[in-house]
Amino acid sequence: MTNQTLEAPRPVLVVDFGAQYAQLIARRVREAGVYSELVPHTITAAEVLAKKPLGLVLSGGPSSVYAEGAPTFDDSIFELGIPTFGICYGFQVMAQALGGVVGHTGDREYGATDVVLSNTADAILQGQPVEQNVWMSHGDAVQQAPEGFEVLASTAVTPVAAFGSKERRMYGVQWHPEVKHSDHGQALLENFLRFIADIPAEWNAENVIEDQVARIRAQVGDGKVICGLSGGVDSAVAAALVHRAVGDQLTCVFVDHGLLRQGEREQVEVDYVASTGVRLVTVDAREKFLTALQGVTDPETKRKIIGREFIRTFEEAEAQLVAEAAESDGSPIRFLVQGTLYPDVVESGGGSGTANIKSHHNVGGLPEDLTFELVEPLRTLFKDEVREIGRQLGLPEVIVSRQPFPGPGLGIRIIGEVTEDRLETLRAADAIAREELTAAGLDAEIWQCPVVLLADVRSVGVQGDGRTYGHPIVLRPVSSEDAMTADWTRLPYDVLARISNKITNQVPDVNRVVLDVTSKPPGTIEWE
Ligand code: XMP
Repeated sequence: MTNQTLEAPRPVLVVDFGAQYAQLIARRVREAGVYSELVPHTITAAEVLAKKPLGLVLSGGPSSVYAEGAPTFDDSIFELGIPTFGICYGFQVMAQALGGVVGHTGDREYGATDVVLSNTADAILQGQPVEQNVWMSHGDAVQQAPEGFEVLASTAVTPVAAFGSKERRMYGVQWHPEVKHSDHGQALLENFLRFIADIPAEWNAENVIEDQVARIRAQVGDGKVICGLSGGVDSAVAAALVHRAVGDQLTCVFVDHGLLRQGEREQVEVDYVASTGVRLVTVDAREKFLTALQGVTDPETKRKIIGREFIRTFEEAEAQLVAEAAESDGSPIRFLVQGTLYPDVVESGGGSGTANIKSHHNVGGLPEDLTFELVEPLRTLFKDEVREIGRQLGLPEVIVSRQPFPGPGLGIRIIGEVTEDRLETLRAADAIAREELTAAGLDAEIWQCPVVLLADVRSVGVQGDGRTYGHPIVLRPVSSEDAMTADWTRLPYDVLARISNKITNQVPDVNRVVLDVTSKPPGTIEWE
């Protein structure tokens, strides 16, 4: 393997000015077949140069360029000759730095807005309709384009809604091309990447696999590797990549903590193993977890116990594997695979502004004092890319398209003490809900649909001739882009009716099904 192959790919840098849209922009650039990286707005010209970017995209931001504490930017970056595309706040930063005028007009534009393009002969506007509907969100506006820049679009209240200079390869738009509400937004971004920055569309799952396999081989050599599988997408794809790279140097460990949903253990033990050929050790820790959770109702305590037991169990399994490995040929296990994703990297300090660390989501993570070297083949990837890579690697669709599921599993979806009977009840109800949602073709519309058992609540019902005194099941279908915010999904009534009927008919002890109609915030996605 030559060093050349292992050099980081040259990225388009997406400068994060603190808007929720920066990650979305980075994803859209990749959807256009171009590798992108998020960088904070505090990046210096030297740091930009060191990354050898093929282009820059400046994101939107929450502030006015004149507001106190507004995110700053090193203006000399505009002198580096890098093709640049400014969006919303980024467009205004560009205008101001290059000698244009940004002002507070008092006219704000929020939401769907009609824009009229003025020169569709310019390469960046190629194929774009002259009149189109775009998504706006701004108070300030560019009042005058910088010298040498041509005004390329306007709206009823914003005379300079886009400008550009072919010579300097710099363009900007006031609207948000990255959101789906902007009708031709993706095409516009692609025009910038293809025709202005001249970047070929070469970022795709196949190339990423090839590149990661090379990197893993270079890192691991002939060393031994272990990986904890959770049943989720990330660890499954990470392990499959490592297996593709170093085969049986990898051993996977799967802890069955008894808080899994119906069929999940089989999906890993049978389907996943069949499709990848990985060596798998399953640890049956169901008893141990149930015992540790006995009598516990407080959600934080549950999380702590589950996290602690998980670490202990994994450590025991790992110690055994290390001992076995040392015995067999004397070579130790040196590496541990983790399915860390790009948003985790950015959110824990790689980016800025939007950082929002979900510390409690590390439950089910691994002990900190392990002395392994980490192998993290998904560190540069977004979730949808990880799924695509999983598909390319031939993983079962149930795993690849699995919706998010919390590490502590059903343990936090039983409100009250966790017992085997209650787990069985919840598993049955959850399986019905999932089956019906899938059958109705709704999986893509739903981010996830926690099914919750209110084990400490009972209410009177009537079934057949008798009165019942059973528990409610809560359905919590949500739509979301990133789980930070969410809205409840408006599921068709007939689907809800089928789920409700089936659950109350088939699941003992459940006599009501209720729907959660709360957005996040104020509610969280999970009930705990
Ligand atoms: P909340 O309930 O905070 O959840 O709105 C946001 C997202 O995080 C998932 N979640 C977890 N994921 N380990 C995980 O891997 C956890 O401990 C955990 N707790 C919540 C939740 O399902 C939702 O997608």
